Amino acid sequence: MAILNILKYPDPRLYTNASEVKNITSEIKTLISSMAETMYDAPGVGLAATQVNIHQKIIVIDISEDKNNLLVLINPLLLESKGEMINQEGCLSVPEVFEKVKRADWIKISALNENGEKFELEAKGLLAVCIQHEMDHLEGILFIDYLSKLKRSMIVKKLSKQKKELERIVV
Ligand code: NI
Repeated sequence: MAILNILKYPDPRLYTNASEVKNITSEIKTLISSMAETMYDAPGVGLAATQVNIHQKIIVIDISEDKNNLLVLINPLLLESKGEMINQEGCLSVPEVFEKVKRADWIKISALNENGEKFELEAKGLLAVCIQHEMDHLEGILFIDYLSKLKRSMIVKKLSKQKKELERIVV
């Protein structure tokens, strides 16, 4: 296991479309453990493989308070969605930015777990937001892509300022 480097917006690799996992090899299992470790360390409640520059359909999520309820989604597929909700979202690839995003408030998905077993899951609230956000990552979509161009350009400015401040400390 290892803590992996998380790609940060506007890294173009975040816009890659992930491909399906064909076989859950020991490498994939190690990757899943490392993704979970990276998510807990960040800390965040979800991480898609795209964010660690692995372009395969793998997601880890843990919205539990005690961080002991890991959900692994391999090749997730949206089966149904209903309703609407608006939440303030953030993303480990877009640090310090929180914006309102409209999502379905109930979803039904199917996916494989880390043992390759297929299951279906119905989710609402925070879990539904999280799954939709991470599934977007696998298609190269970031939550800020739902915002206006003006808002996005303000975010780019904010992030480049953050980067400069960080470099100043490093130097
Ligand atoms: Ni994200």
